[in-house]
Amino acid sequence: MHLLSTDLTINYQEKAPVLRELKLYLRGGEILGIVGHSGCGKSSLAFALLGLLKLKGGSARGSFLWKGREMLGLKESEWLKLRGREIAFVPQSPVSSLNPALRLGTQLSEAWDLHAKGRRSEREQAIAGALHDVSLPGDPEFLRRYPSEISVGQAQRVLIAMAILHRPSLLIADEPTSALDAVTQSEILALFGELNRKLGMSILFISHDLLSVYALCHRIALIDQGSVVECSSPHNIFFSPKHPFTQKLIASLPSVPTAAEIEQALIY
Ligand SMILES: Nc1ncnc2c1ncn2[C@@H]1O[C@H](COP(=O)(O)OP(=O)(O)OP(=O)(O)O)[C@@H](O)[C@H]1O
Ligand SMILES: [Mg+2]
Repeated sequence: MHLLSTDLTINYQEKAPVLRELKLYLRGGEILGIVGHSGCGKSSLAFALLGLLKLKGGSARGSFLWKGREMLGLKESEWLKLRGREIAFVPQSPVSSLNPALRLGTQLSEAWDLHAKGRRSEREQAIAGALHDVSLPGDPEFLRRYPSEISVGQAQRVLIAMAILHRPSLLIADEPTSALDAVTQSEILALFGELNRKLGMSILFISHDLLSVYALCHRIALIDQGSVVECSSPHNIFFSPKHPFTQKLIASLPSVPTAAEIEQALIY
């Protein structure tokens, strides 16, 4: 059974659908890259998979199966139990996603308390563990800091730590590196690869940048005009693209990496 499979049509108000019968599946432990032009509906897909589409004024029909269970029409009270615990989210903009008025430790504790009761020591242990997993210090001095006292790259790591606190089966990352400089970007990409390997976490990695996904993802799905036009391994996408959209995207890259460069950059 797939972890997730979709056949989703998404639209806003009475407008024409943004996504039409979009078919995708994700296996347990897999990293799937979602690539497409700006405005093709990547974030809308993420919202649907997080049960947040209604809140954004959109609606979805068709099917979204999560571990075999139909999720369309699920009540918000059910989503509250699931979101952040089984399916977690890493946003695009680390700085604006953290609350500037609260210490990092407070924000991590709040994220823990959403889905766990229990002793304080358990919470402290879970937070220290998650910070360790993202290579951040878990000492009291760090936890007392405010978001303005850390770098953007560290802020993104804190958000990833928050997302993995409850060991979700799926992490949805919507352009998680686009606000970062090139070096920090590749460090965060490597971190996603590490989390996938160490914790077996599946990742839906959304990006408009083909190059940033080729090293990380097991498969890449390309979205154009509302549907998946091609879905294959990074190698096939780069070296034998089938669909004209993929071919155009590859041709537009400043330089197409060689097979050797791809092998070298592969995180696996
Ligand atoms: N809340 C909304 N209300 C109405 N239309 C919306 C809303 N959110 C998105 N849209 C429209 O839906 C389409 C897809 O938007 P979406 O944000 O999902 O694209 P995207 O692929 O994530 O783009 P980007 O790469 O720029 O983040 C766009 O045409 C957008 O204008
Ligand atoms: Mg988007």
